[in-house]
Amino acid sequence: MLAALKARHELPRMPPANQHAEERSAVEAASGAADKRGYVQAMFSDIAPRYDLLNHVLSFNIDRGWRRKAIAALDVQKAPAGTYLDLCAGTLDVSVELARTPGFSGWVLGADFAEAMLRAGRSKATGRAVFGVTADAVALPLQSASVDGAIVAFGVRNLADLDAGLREVARVVKPGGRFVILEFTTPPSAIVRAAYGFYSNRVLPVIGGLLSGNRGAYRYLPESIARFPSAPELGERLKAAGFTGVRWELLTLGTVAIHAGSRA
Ligand SMILES: C[S@@+](CC[C@H](N)C(=O)[O-])C[C@H]1O[C@@H](n2cnc3c(N)ncnc32)[C@H](O)[C@@H]1O
Repeated sequence: MLAALKARHELPRMPPANQHAEERSAVEAASGAADKRGYVQAMFSDIAPRYDLLNHVLSFNIDRGWRRKAIAALDVQKAPAGTYLDLCAGTLDVSVELARTPGFSGWVLGADFAEAMLRAGRSKATGRAVFGVTADAVALPLQSASVDGAIVAFGVRNLADLDAGLREVARVVKPGGRFVILEFTTPPSAIVRAAYGFYSNRVLPVIGGLLSGNRGAYRYLPESIARFPSAPELGERLKAAGFTGVRWELLTLGTVAIHAGSRA
């Protein structure tokens, strides 16, 4: 692995001029000035083989705990034999962790529009009740009120139309079913915001760019976080989409939020 990373470092995928263009495209996509859907799909397809490594390295492995906490908020004990949707499932970490929940005997549908991400995570799902489905979050190939609950980890921030995505989840979740969102958010404390801003804007694009070979992806990440609705606003948008009892919790110095609500 180290040799591969070193080789990647010594042979940059593109010359510096193109790197600037790559970073500019990332900022434009995050701001919605360019085709965000197309940018996001191409970017995740590109970084898919290295996504898991990057995730764990750049979050200091804290991401595993965040996902477990979000899964607990889904409360699958209410319908342990049910069918659950893992939206923007990527390399299936949430799907697999959910399927491993003690007492769980249902199915998990892991939906993502970047097939390469699902493929990169396929081996983790071997022997688990997990199905990967290539699908767009705003047009799911599922009947209305067909799943017992839904969860999305680090996915909704990437949607070109957030409200359309939330409404689509509300369409497929049965009345009373839970919906949980795990997502990065802007920390409320100014001190944490400053430190987090330095890490996200200075450290992350360099390390993420070197490890992934796609510097744009790690420019896009802080830009998309900065433009994503605050935790209270996301709560309001969940209510507007048809969820009740919406609550949220901030984790890790307010850098991450877990929102949960029930389908009305
Ligand atoms: C940051 S990754 C998160 C993956 C996974 N949930 C995790 O926790 O690691 C975001 C994923 O969302 C997917 N995605 C973004 N927009 C999507 C859309 N409109 N429809 C389906 N998947 C989408 C991307 O392809 C990518 O795999």
